[in-house]
Amino acid sequence: MTSTLFEPLSVGAITLPNRVLMAPLTRMRATDPGDVPNPLMAQYYRQRAGAGLIVTEGTQISPIGKGNMDTPGIYSDEQVEGWRQITDAVHAEGGRIAAQLWHVGRVSHPDLIGGELPVSASANSYRSRATLKGPDGLPQRADSPTPRPLSAEEIAATLEDYARATRNAREAGFDLVEIHGAHGYLIHQFLGRGSNHRDDEYGGSQENRARFALEVVDTVVGAWSADRTGIRISPQGSFNGLEEDDLPMAIHLAGELSRRKVAFLHLSEPDWAGGPALQDDFRKELRAAYDGAIFGAGAYTIEKAERLVGLDLIDAVAFGRPFIANPDLPERLRLGAELNAPVPATFYGGDAEGYTDYPTLTA
Ligand code: FNR
Repeated sequence: MTSTLFEPLSVGAITLPNRVLMAPLTRMRATDPGDVPNPLMAQYYRQRAGAGLIVTEGTQISPIGKGNMDTPGIYSDEQVEGWRQITDAVHAEGGRIAAQLWHVGRVSHPDLIGGELPVSASANSYRSRATLKGPDGLPQRADSPTPRPLSAEEIAATLEDYARATRNAREAGFDLVEIHGAHGYLIHQFLGRGSNHRDDEYGGSQENRARFALEVVDTVVGAWSADRTGIRISPQGSFNGLEEDDLPMAIHLAGELSRRKVAFLHLSEPDWAGGPALQDDFRKELRAAYDGAIFGAGAYTIEKAERLVGLDLIDAVAFGRPFIANPDLPERLRLGAELNAPVPATFYGGDAEGYTDYPTLTA
C-alpha cells in the first residue's frame, strides 16, 4: 500500500523515516524506590523502535511533579542512567525517541510526594484522582486534595527543574524533548480559565495564562535548542478534572511557538476521551499560525490519518493504545495486516504481562 504516512518527515534537528508515531503512554512500571527506568522498559521501547518517533511516557521533572505510582523520573543520576539504556536500545534498532517532560501539578496526592500538598496555579477545589500503590503493589485510585498555589519564587524554581530535566534528557541520549502541556497537568492548570485564578502576571488575560507555558518552552529551548523541542497540548476536552474549550488559546500558543521555531506541536485531540472531534477549520487556523511539524493523536484510524495528512492539516499521527498492543504497528499498517487488541487491565502497573508480550506479525 502506498501512503503518505510512510514518507519521511523533518522535525527540527532530525528526520523521521515515517509518520506513524508512538504516543506518550504512562505504564507505571519504573523501579521503586527511585522511580528509575529499568531493563523491562528498555525491552518495551526497543520492541517499538519502528515508530517514526517514540514519545516516552510522561517522566516527572522533579519529585513533586509526580502523580502516579511507579512513573519514571528524569531528575536523578540513576534515572538518567536508566533512560540511557532505553535510548541506546531504541537507537540500536534504528529508532528515534523523545522524552515527555511532565509535572502533574495538582493531579497528585501527598502519599506520592513526601507528604506535601500538591501545587498548582491556584488553590481551587476540583475533582480528580491520583494513582497510589495499593497493599498488593497494584494501582489504587485516591482523590486529589485541593492544591496550594505556586509562589513566584517557586515558579522560578520549577523552571529550573525543567532546565535540569532537559539537560538530563540530552545527556541520556534522547533525540528530542516533548513538554507535556496537555491533559489538565501543571502547565494546563496555568492555561485554563477554570484552574487559574491568579491575580499576578501569570493569571487573568490569555497572554498572562500562557506565560508559564511559554516560560517553560523558553527554558527548555535555552537548556538545549528549539530544533530539539516540542510541546503537547489538549485545547479541548475534559481531562483530570480540568474542562477546557479554548481553541483561541491554542492558536495564540501556536503563534508564539512558531516565533520561537519550536520543532513540533503535538495535538492531543478530545474524541478518545469522550470529547467532540476537532474541526478542519480549527486545524487550518492552527496550520496557518504555526510553521513547525504538527502531530495529531487520539482515536485515529489509518484512514483518518491519511485524510488529514493528505489535506496537509497534520504532518504525522501518534497512536496510543494501538501501539500498546502492536509493537510493530507501522509495519502492520503498511501491510494492512490485522491488529492485536489492547488489554486495558494491564495498561497501568504490573510486569511483563500486557507490556512486552504482545506478538509481532513475525512472532
Ligand atoms: C495515555 N495518554 C498519555 N498522554 C500523555 O500525554 N502522556 C502520558 O503519559 C499518557 N499516558 C497514557 C496512558 C495510557 C494507558 C493511555 C491509554 C493514554 C494519552 C495518549 O498519548 C493518547 O493521546 C491516547 O491514548 C489517545 O490515542 P489512541 O489510544 O486513541 O491512539
